[in-house]
Amino acid sequence: MTHRILILGGTTEARQLAGKLAARADLSVTLSLAGRTESPVAQGVPVRSGGFGGADGLAAYLRETGTDLMVDATHPYAAQISANAAQAARAAGVPILALRRPGWEPVDGDRWTPVDTVGDAVRALGPAPRRVFLALGRQEVAAFEAAPQHHYLIRSVDPVEPKLDVPDASYLLARGPFREAEERALLEKHRIEIVVSKDSGGEATYGKIAAARALGIEVVMVRRPDLPDVPSAETVEALAALIDQLGVDHFL
Ligand SMILES: NC(=O)c1ccc[n+]([C@@H]2O[C@H](COP(=O)([O-])OP(=O)(O)OC[C@H]3O[C@@H](n4cnc5c(N)ncnc54)[C@H](OP(=O)(O)O)[C@@H]3O)[C@@H](O)[C@H]2O)c1
Repeated sequence: MTHRILILGGTTEARQLAGKLAARADLSVTLSLAGRTESPVAQGVPVRSGGFGGADGLAAYLRETGTDLMVDATHPYAAQISANAAQAARAAGVPILALRRPGWEPVDGDRWTPVDTVGDAVRALGPAPRRVFLALGRQEVAAFEAAPQHHYLIRSVDPVEPKLDVPDASYLLARGPFREAEERALLEKHRIEIVVSKDSGGEATYGKIAAARALGIEVVMVRRPDLPDVPSAETVEALAALIDQLGVDHFL
């Protein structure tokens, strides 16, 4: 019997997990994307795109499609969809697993200022003008209009539209992974004095953290949001192994 698995994605790991599970003949895998990125990379499995309409909409989708298992493999800062997923799983009686990559740990030489929110990150830059690298999603950068005295270098996958209402900002379009050597060259070229980052975890975006450490540059690190407590694994391999060893029936 084929089991239907819905993977909530938008991350490299979600795509990798989907590919791994899709290779199994007994599983039918659908990957769900929010539909924010204009040209997402090919996912290699059937994809549905766009919001579900809150937790109720997601619960209805789970029922209508006869989904047997849901995997929340969204980004650690995508707190809304994770909360919706946990709630919808309960409502629809569908088991849920989460893929939660661990955050980074500071090491010797790191100069991190941890803050709770992007708004706190804006304030942490201080009153004096500084040259700031914003490695945040395009939705978050608007908050920095509250501190127009700084120079901003803003990197995003899709263009930031509208542009920030500040006198001095430059924009860079790029998609990771980003290696340390390239990140170091970028920070040096733009004479960056401070980096604002999420604690995304994983390798793909760690280059800027390592580069900032090498250059003695401060990093304002926005802490992770609270996520619902559901059974989880930290890596693609561990999550796939969980499903392999226990079988989907175990979760039903
Ligand atoms: N936040 C980040 O830093 C970040 C970084 C890299 C990638 N991403 C990815 O980008 C997407 C959006 O992130 P976000 O922080 O804006 O999310 P969010 O604030 O947690 O979610 C906002 C709404 O977007 C829809 N949504 C989010 N992820 C979805 C998915 N995988 N499939 C279908 N609908 C989804 C849901 O709409 P409805 O309520 O209508 O269902 C959700 O309520 C996620 O897929 C996430 O994995 C986020």
